[in-house]
Amino acid sequence: MKVFVLFASTLLCLAASSQTGLYQEQHRPQFHFSQPAHWMNDPNGMVFYKGEYHLFYQYYPDSTVWGPMHWGHAISKDLLHWKHLPTALYPDSLGLIFSGSVVLDENNTSGFKRGAESPLVAIYTYHDLKREKAGLDKFQYQGIAFSNDKGRTWKKYAANPVIKNQGDKDFRDPKVFWHKATKHWVMSLAVANKIQFYHSKNLKDWSLTGEFGLADGSHGGVWECPDLFELQVDNSNEKKWVLIVSIGKGGSNGGSATQYFVGSFDGRTFKNDNAPNKILWLDNGTDNYAGVTWNNAPNNRRIFLGWMSNWDYAQLVPTEKWRSAMTVPRELNLAKTSDGIRLVSKPVKELEALRNKEQKLDFGTKLQQPSATSEILLEIDLAKTSAKDFGIEFSNSLNEKILVGYEVNTNRFYIDRTNAGKKSFENSFAARHYAPRIATNKKLTLHLLTDRASVELFADDGLVNMTDTFFPNEDFTNLQLYKTGGNVKVLRGKLYPLKSIWKP
Ligand code: FRU
Repeated sequence: MKVFVLFASTLLCLAASSQTGLYQEQHRPQFHFSQPAHWMNDPNGMVFYKGEYHLFYQYYPDSTVWGPMHWGHAISKDLLHWKHLPTALYPDSLGLIFSGSVVLDENNTSGFKRGAESPLVAIYTYHDLKREKAGLDKFQYQGIAFSNDKGRTWKKYAANPVIKNQGDKDFRDPKVFWHKATKHWVMSLAVANKIQFYHSKNLKDWSLTGEFGLADGSHGGVWECPDLFELQVDNSNEKKWVLIVSIGKGGSNGGSATQYFVGSFDGRTFKNDNAPNKILWLDNGTDNYAGVTWNNAPNNRRIFLGWMSNWDYAQLVPTEKWRSAMTVPRELNLAKTSDGIRLVSKPVKELEALRNKEQKLDFGTKLQQPSATSEILLEIDLAKTSAKDFGIEFSNSLNEKILVGYEVNTNRFYIDRTNAGKKSFENSFAARHYAPRIATNKKLTLHLLTDRASVELFADDGLVNMTDTFFPNEDFTNLQLYKTGGNVKVLRGKLYPLKSIWKP
């Protein structure tokens, strides 16, 4: 009898822990990176070295709201499964550790090499909270740290800071890469409402080479988290430079968002190919911010990861033990369109390994997704479509839902989270968000990745993206296609339930 009671209570415990255990909590993403607990914002220091993708992130280990920043750390061999490592950088007497990057110093230009491994060098912003609180200026400046053991332990450079503040309140988020043509390290730095470029031979001594942006792009908020890299256009011989800039407010659907510029870079400064007032959004949703790309990714791939939240409500969202997750890793490319050269983002190929058995998706099919995680691929023939509006509805038994669709008449994609569950934490959260279509061909493709609390739309092979979060009271396990005002010609409709990355 005793044995039975013990057995039964063990079973109960196991059942309870599977509801509330780590990565089982309500709203916890199943195939997106999130830290085990506490607060996370921007991805930092992304670098690939010896088979490992490093992901550092803005981290406050004492609370689920923003606080004194550290760099959390995780590594992955496949961009899917992550191993959490100890906190990499802690605040020190110079300040908190804000966003920045990590480079692989293969030629030991920094002189930091000790032992067999090439040094990894982190370049980050110090934020001196005491100076800020005392009402003093010059409280942000750049520092460096290095690792001689593949990123496992870090030492701060004794002569920090390496770039002093000249009087700008916002002076942060250094992204550094090796510029082959000029044989220099190049840094892009966000300074108030523009980007400054610096260069260096040794990662310690930096000089200003140029500035960009005072009159370009969107200035709805402070400029943050730049990234600069070169990409081929449509796999041709033509190459262009892309400058990514996040802005704290003024995104196309409100709040923080990320814009980009296409142009040239001569090692000293960036020139925009487009008219200054042309604004290009990397993602039209509300939940992709402060994203940057991996340094040294193999096969010349340019892989991007964003913070899947928005400063308008990041600290208010209804999750309990942790706050925030990252987007899925996305591969960036450039494509020629009738509107000019545009950035194309697609989920990395690696994600296909998470697919469970393929199911057919068409109008009239109602599907049940026990795990509320799925990938959908839809191809529509607009020439044979008379509907005014169509899309995919994800719902639960409480009649809460999220809609992802396309309005034919206005030529816009949308994500509608008006009635998608918890919304009282912020006034503007429950809304429909739009993104204009760029492609003009008659075949329209929708590629969707839905997790328990997010949807990422890659429309027209990644030419238009939208990322939105939501917080249903019950997971969205039902899904179906809908249409209004006519018919929709589906050329291909597929759905894959997705496996969790957090289960053994
Ligand atoms: C962007 C940002 C960065 C800053 C960091 C602080 O979200 O504001 O500019 O370095 O967050 O956590």
